[in-house]
Amino acid sequence: MELKFGEYRLRHFRRGDEPSIAANINDRKIERYTLNIPYPYDLKCAREWVGFNLKLYRKKQSPQLNLAIDLAGEVIGGIGLFSISGHRAELGYWLGVKHWGKGIVTAAVRTLTRHALKELKLLRVYATVLPVNKASARVLQKAGYKYEGRMVKQHLKRGKPQDALLFAKTR
Ligand SMILES: CC(C)(COP(=O)(O)OP(=O)(O)OC[C@H]1O[C@@H](n2cnc3c(N)ncnc32)[C@H](O)[C@@H]1OP(=O)(O)O)[C@@H](O)C(=O)NCCC(=O)NCCS
Repeated sequence: MELKFGEYRLRHFRRGDEPSIAANINDRKIERYTLNIPYPYDLKCAREWVGFNLKLYRKKQSPQLNLAIDLAGEVIGGIGLFSISGHRAELGYWLGVKHWGKGIVTAAVRTLTRHALKELKLLRVYATVLPVNKASARVLQKAGYKYEGRMVKQHLKRGKPQDALLFAKTR
């Protein structure tokens, strides 16, 4: 599958993506704001990630849909739906630091959310954001997500409880 916005594409991960994934994701600034992205993140991590997704793409009904944010063949970020269950799914994303602040992820969130609500026929897409992550909260607001509240001690990060801000877009 492929979804386009401007010069960017959302597409399946594939073999050969590993160097650009590792080059763009391997950053403390990304690890800091996310729950499941390790730092350091090396080629082995990228190989496992691509292999994991290649298996999922073959499934008829998959609980996750992870896509590369592609610029001219390079993976500069990732966006995905996970915990897909019945009528709802959770959204997650990251972008290589050198590409921050250009509106790329806001456009990617708009594009994938439209696909989720219209083509996948979901009724609800939601995302949780660490309170310190102002940029991500802003992305969701700009993409039309509504703030639903603060989930107290929702996550454990490095063994420490963390609140999460809940956002959702529904149809
Ligand atoms: C969050 C992230 C995906 C944003 O991607 P991006 O393409 O740079 O986002 P956009 O350019 O579309 O929008 C960012 C918005 O946040 C704003 N912003 C950035 N830093 C901010 C801060 N410290 N405080 C308030 N707003 C901030 C920008 O000004 C922009 O809003 P504007 O258009 O109104 O000016 C990217 O920073 C990232 O990968 N972060 C690390 C991983 C992560 O946080 N993933 C999400 C987990 S919930």
